[in-house]
Amino acid sequence: MKISDSQYFALKRLHSLTGVVPIGLFLLEHLYTNARALQGAAAFDKAAAELAGLPFVVVIEALGIWMPIAFHMVLGVLIATTSQANVGKHGYARNWQYTLQRVSGIVLVFYIIYHMWALRFAPEYLVSTSAYEYVNRHLAQPAVFAFYVVGILSACYHFGNGLFGFAIHWGIVTSRSAQKMAGRLSFAVFLALSVLGIASLFGFLGLRADFLQKPHAAETHGSVVMEGGSR
Ligand code: HEM
Repeated sequence: MKISDSQYFALKRLHSLTGVVPIGLFLLEHLYTNARALQGAAAFDKAAAELAGLPFVVVIEALGIWMPIAFHMVLGVLIATTSQANVGKHGYARNWQYTLQRVSGIVLVFYIIYHMWALRFAPEYLVSTSAYEYVNRHLAQPAVFAFYVVGILSACYHFGNGLFGFAIHWGIVTSRSAQKMAGRLSFAVFLALSVLGIASLFGFLGLRADFLQKPHAAETHGSVVMEGGSR
C-alpha cells in the first residue's frame, strides 16, 4: 500500500507524539509505582490495588496504554527496519543516538510482550494474592532478572533519547547550544530513570529504602496515635 507524503508526515508526527503522550507519561507513572517496592510488600500491594481499583481501569488501559503502544510499536518496527544508519561511515554521537534509539526500540518489542504476558495476563499472576510476592518469585530467577535489567535500560534510554528527538522534531529546540543542552538533559533523564527502575527491581527482592522516608511515614514509624488520643 502506498501513502502520500502528507499522510507519512502525519503518521510520523503521531508516532512521535504517542512516544511522549501517553506512552512516556505511562512509563513515568509505572516506574514511580514500582518504586513503592522499596517500601516493602504492603506498600507496593496497596499501590497496585489502588491502580487496579480505578473505575473503568481496563478501558483506560486499553485505550490509553495498549492501543498507543501497539501503534507506536508497529510503526516503530517499520521505521527501525527501513532506516539507514550512518554509524560506520561517520561515528558522530548523533548517529550513535539514532542507531541506539532503533535498537532499544526493537529490544522493547520483545521485552514489552514478555513483560505484559508475565505480569499482566499469566493465569498464575491473575490468581495470585500478593502482586509483590508474585514479582518477587518472578525476579528471583537470574535470567529473568537480567532480562528486566536490559528491558529497563532500553526503555529508559529510548524514552530519554526520545525526548531529545521529540524536542527537535517539534521545533522546541532549534539552536546548536539548545540542542546540546537538550542532549545532556535527555541523558540525565536516562540515568535518573535507570537508577530508579533498577533500584525498584532490587526492592522486589527485599531491598528497602527507608532512609529516604521522612520520620512520620506510616510504614516505617508505625502508628503515632495511641488509644484515648494521647501520645
Ligand atoms: C517504553 C515504550 C516506548 C516509549 C516510552 C517510546 C517513546 C518514544 C519517544 C519519546 C520517541 C521520540 C519521538 C521523536 O523522535 O520525535 C520515540 C521514537 C521512536 N520509537 Fe519509541 N517508545 C517506546 C517503544 C517503542 C517500540 C517498542 C518501538 C519498536 C521498534 C519503538 C520505536 C521507535 C522508533 C523507531 C523511534 C524513532 C522515530 C524517528 O526518529 O523517526 N518505540 N519513542
